Amino acid sequence: MDAAYNPYNPGAGAPPPELAGRDGLIKRAETALERIKRKRPTKSLIMLGLRGVGKTVLLNRIEELAEAAGAQTAMFEADPEKSLPAQLAPQLHRLLLRLDRIKRVGHELSNAFGTLRAFATAFTAKVGELEFGLSGGQATGDLAIDLTDLFVAIGEAAQKRDTAAVILVDEVQYVSKADLSALIVALHKISQRQLPLILFGAGLPQLAKLAGDAKSYAERLFDYPDIGRLDEEAARLALVEPARREDVAFADDALAFVLEETERYPFFLQVWGAKCWETAERSPITLADAKAATKAAIASLDESIFNVRLARLSERQKEYARAMAELGPGPCSSADVARALGATQSQVAPYRDDLIQKGMAYAPERGQIAFTVPKFDAFMRRRAPMPSAKTPGPKPPSGPRIRRVAKS
Ligand SMILES: Nc1ncnc2c1ncn2[C@@H]1O[C@H](COP(=O)(O)OP(=O)(O)O)[C@@H](O)[C@H]1O
Ligand SMILES: [Mg+2]
Repeated sequence: MDAAYNPYNPGAGAPPPELAGRDGLIKRAETALERIKRKRPTKSLIMLGLRGVGKTVLLNRIEELAEAAGAQTAMFEADPEKSLPAQLAPQLHRLLLRLDRIKRVGHELSNAFGTLRAFATAFTAKVGELEFGLSGGQATGDLAIDLTDLFVAIGEAAQKRDTAAVILVDEVQYVSKADLSALIVALHKISQRQLPLILFGAGLPQLAKLAGDAKSYAERLFDYPDIGRLDEEAARLALVEPARREDVAFADDALAFVLEETERYPFFLQVWGAKCWETAERSPITLADAKAATKAAIASLDESIFNVRLARLSERQKEYARAMAELGPGPCSSADVARALGATQSQVAPYRDDLIQKGMAYAPERGQIAFTVPKFDAFMRRRAPMPSAKTPGPKPPSGPRIRRVAKS
């Protein structure tokens, strides 16, 4: 069908034509924003989920909601190469400038600017060309203390202006443990003081554990809603609704087929939707169209995101990932992966850690490992050569050279 009218929107952070199945979460965010403005105790929300489930899209939506509610936002995507202060300072500076526009006078704001300047100096963070107004606090160089001072100063300035400060952080798993710990300390203080500052975050699933390790009271400060695949009804809506607006329908069996193939993961729904549109000559989209679209979708994923991820791995990391893939789509035990590689766990632990570091894998629980991208296991089995086990068992007549290990 006419490509000009293709409504689907596959891509990182790409707003979907229909934001399906997230009403509950959006409501929760709205409630949190409302409560923070009213100085009611409110937990910060950190949304956790695999790649492609729609975390960034949700975070962007929450930012819109916050701004519509008159709050001032600071948003950034955590970069593993940069420190938290370096990333936070310019965003908070912009936030303060906006508070300044609401109401110029008041010592809280000059205090906040001063605290930020001291903060930026202490952590050598750049905050743009702009000169700061008046001088304010002094920084100690201890991130937990200085970030607390800064958050308190910003919270007070926001409070004075009857607004709230909303900090949104994507890819939170890339914030270092020490920085995360400082962030938690600062948010803890904010919640004690009941100041209108809140954090919304999104990250890969290992994060709850990370934050838990960082500070035991993180549990009380944060809620960690799980963002996952859509339920049946929402997935249906995500596909059908955008097409319907263009007077295009899916045949029932075509729809069922696509839901099955995509496993109802939002990113895949967009990819499949787009490919169905490209494949079909006319409405309705048939099962045959959906099958052809599936081939095209898988080929395009292989050539794009899957291959890009594979290319980022060293040979050893690839071998580790390939052994994981052999054990199936779900989480597997690191012990089984090591066994499949014919190695001890400690021998292969560095490669496991590398995969986690690169955001390719995560540990759902202690001793477990899983891919962060759905369907990556199948891709690895399709495309990557099997590593040979160092202590090979009896070779199966055909197929994998690797030893198959029963999942316990
Ligand atoms: N609720 C949803 N319904 C339909 N499509 C969605 C939904 N949420 C996200 N998407 C689509 O999924 C893809 C990935 O979204 P993104 O927010 O980048 O995921 P993540 O940040 O979790 O990796 C995008 O193409 C987006 O349009
Ligand atoms: Mg994202």
